[in-house]
Amino acid sequence: MKLTVIGTGYVGLVSGTCFAEMGNTVTCIDIDEKKIERLKNGEIPIYEPGLEPMVKRNIDNKTLFFSTDLSKNLDQCDAAFIAVGTPMGEDGSADLQYVLKVAADIGKYMTTPLVIVDKSTVPVGTADKVKATVAAELKKRNVDIEFHVVSNPEFLKEGDAINDFLKPDRVVVGSDDENATKIMRSLYSPFFRSSMDRLITMDVRSAEMTKYVANAMLATKISFMNEVANICELVDADVNKVRIGIGSDSRIGYSFIYPGSGYGGSCFPKDVKALKRTAEEHGYTPELIKAVEDVNNRQKFVIAKKVTEKYGEDLSGITFTVWGLAFKPGTDDMREAPAIYIIKELTKRGATIHAYDPKAMEEAQHFYLKDTPNTNYFNSKYAALEGADAMILLTEWKEFRAPDFGELKKLLKSPVIFDGRNQYDDEKLKSMGFEYHQIGKKA
Ligand code: UDX
Repeated sequence: MKLTVIGTGYVGLVSGTCFAEMGNTVTCIDIDEKKIERLKNGEIPIYEPGLEPMVKRNIDNKTLFFSTDLSKNLDQCDAAFIAVGTPMGEDGSADLQYVLKVAADIGKYMTTPLVIVDKSTVPVGTADKVKATVAAELKKRNVDIEFHVVSNPEFLKEGDAINDFLKPDRVVVGSDDENATKIMRSLYSPFFRSSMDRLITMDVRSAEMTKYVANAMLATKISFMNEVANICELVDADVNKVRIGIGSDSRIGYSFIYPGSGYGGSCFPKDVKALKRTAEEHGYTPELIKAVEDVNNRQKFVIAKKVTEKYGEDLSGITFTVWGLAFKPGTDDMREAPAIYIIKELTKRGATIHAYDPKAMEEAQHFYLKDTPNTNYFNSKYAALEGADAMILLTEWKEFRAPDFGELKKLLKSPVIFDGRNQYDDEKLKSMGFEYHQIGKKA
């Protein structure tokens, strides 16, 4: 099939490349000329394991192309994917200006029948708006070309995106036209060759809703566990044990019940807010979804609170090593990362930070923590420890899982660890003389 993917962010670039990998001819479009030039040379603007070789291979195979010009890339195209950003507007709702601009451009330039696919996470009702926008442009041109708008939300996880796309748990397609559904089915069926058909079809609005609900449900699990963790600590229980105890119930399950310093990233915070906003716009007060967000905002400060309980409100003269800046392992993405909030809070109180992250230090230095004072970056986890009063773990990268604790003890001024991801064995650390603070269990 011939496909056009508009927007070369996480979702667009991964989707386009994986469709090309399956033998389709894909052109990825972006308005950012520099980015497109770099992509043409196989340079990837993001860190995503496995993506770069796949992009290069498909460029060489002539199945993947990059362009800034949508007008030349819709002719004879089977499906056009809208995968541009839907940033959070000031009122918490998803800002649709980019999606609708692309819809207008499609209407301006399409020449042959087309399936238009909403791939970006967009609120219920967006497909109707896209449809109306495209139809208005066709009317201006005084042409009548058949098109259908389908919703096909993306569920990929950063850091594991290629795997998620190539072997999806499910593909949701919301469509009100049989032929459009057929095209979507034949596009995705190669992904299910070795497993059962996981394509779920439904009406457009339910598909749009499904994406928000999946993310809000996962965010709810996390906030619930974080709240439980805080209660465990007060009653002298251990949340790590409670987690295992409840996860063994197959109705609950083990995944997404790890307590920590709160969820971050480009999806959960934005999508929870947008779902709340949608409910409010329809006159409904979503108490639980509101609480999920409030608990998460509070959770980001739990580690900082533990620090001030130990060292006092004024942290001048105290140095903390921070291991991990990215919002989760396997990515350089720092959007809504707890590290931003914690480092800002500690430096505001006068502390000095020695930071190390395997991938996200550039993001931190040049963007998210650009103006944060007293924050220094080190090129190894051990170098960052030297002379610090305590270590704070904020992202559970594999290289932090089993460090040389003897070395930690030697390099730190005192053997104190604040663990925002509950990665270590507290009995072992205590026997080695560490003071170990974690989430959901008294030190
Ligand atoms: C998420 C969804 O998983 C994905 O399906 C959707 O398409 C986009 O949003 P992503 O943002 O890449 O993907 O990250 P994910 O791995 O889901 O983690 C989200 C956040 O939850 C991270 O901050 C992580 O640290 C946190 N988390 C996750 C916990 O705090 N506890 C857990 O048990 C699991």
